[in-house]
Amino acid sequence: MTVLVTGGCGYIGAHVVHALHQAGEKVVVVDDLSYGKPTRIEGSRLYGMDISAPGAGERLAEILDAEDVEAVIHFAARKQVGESVEKPLWYYQQNINGMLNVLTGMTKSKKAKKLVFSSSAATYGVPPVDVVPEDVVPMLPINPYGQTKLFGEWMARACEEPFGIRFCALRYFNVAGCGPVELEDPATLNLIPMLLDRLKKGKAPAIFGDDYPTPDGTCVRDYIHVSDLADAHIAALSYLDRDERKYDAFNVGTGEGTSVRQIVDELKKVTGLPFKETVMARRAGDPPHLIGSPKRINEEMGWHAKYNVEDIVRSAWEAWQANPEHHIDVEHWKQAD
Ligand SMILES: NC(=O)c1ccc[n+]([C@@H]2O[C@H](COP(=O)([O-])OP(=O)(O)OC[C@H]3O[C@@H](n4cnc5c(N)ncnc54)[C@H](O)[C@@H]3O)[C@@H](O)[C@H]2O)c1
Repeated sequence: MTVLVTGGCGYIGAHVVHALHQAGEKVVVVDDLSYGKPTRIEGSRLYGMDISAPGAGERLAEILDAEDVEAVIHFAARKQVGESVEKPLWYYQQNINGMLNVLTGMTKSKKAKKLVFSSSAATYGVPPVDVVPEDVVPMLPINPYGQTKLFGEWMARACEEPFGIRFCALRYFNVAGCGPVELEDPATLNLIPMLLDRLKKGKAPAIFGDDYPTPDGTCVRDYIHVSDLADAHIAALSYLDRDERKYDAFNVGTGEGTSVRQIVDELKKVTGLPFKETVMARRAGDPPHLIGSPKRINEEMGWHAKYNVEDIVRSAWEAWQANPEHHIDVEHWKQAD
């Protein structure tokens, strides 16, 4: 089968391209390279294009049919929560138009009728329960980024019946870690790269808020290894082959919560660096707990996370140290002790 991956040059997309190659699938990538790196997808054809641009739906339809594509995995999107609050219209333009064009391309294509969509725990906003099932109500995303993901799900769902599109959304929790080191996450927006980036700059890693109503006062999240997440996409493609499908939205999490302080402690253990973290003010909009129930994906797709938090932190550290631009001088920190 040939799979078209939008945003395949990005952090998660490239891990999925790698997993698809390992599963023996042919992969075609569409990416505007605004964040992605083409070196991450060796062995796949790359079409450089902005999927949110006018006419991109027609162009995608041509590519889908020319490449004999059967399934699409749609990652290409803007993903920074804070930026989405500052530039809401741009987020709507980018992420909603991107989905609109992907769906337009698929409805015009002869064969590409299976769609896996990168959704997010951000669709839940501040859920009323600690461990969130997919059918929790209300679903009230608290920023434009989360809104575009929830609306993207609605758009795809609306195309199932009239256009015969088989769709499922994977709602990722906190994605972290690395598979092959060259696929590392360089974006210092997520906790682990942010901690490593501060160490690289000789600064103490920061915890934002230690007065939350959680066991150690720091925010609790559900960390999922990016390689486990990649496997969930392979499982989702098989799920879409089934005629009987009970659900079209699935959490990808572990059901286990880890606090920011526990991640910091794990980083000390894994790196052996004797740093002392600093505590800063809370950031606006961080819910105290966000943990996803994986029951549905466990039962329906047979997918289970294989990696734990230590694996996640260790793989992120190893990938960080393998990159000459990021490499942290371990001796500097040991002497500073
Ligand atoms: N990283 C996370 O923790 C996380 C959590 C939940 C959901 N997601 C979602 O997963 C997807 C991938 O995330 P990531 O962390 O790999 O991000 P990323 O920024 O590393 O990758 C996104 C890729 O899409 C490309 N892209 C963006 N807009 C495009 C456009 N208009 N046209 C063509 N290409 C475009 C970028 O160049 C990049 O290669 C996103 O949809 C994101 O919202 C990520």
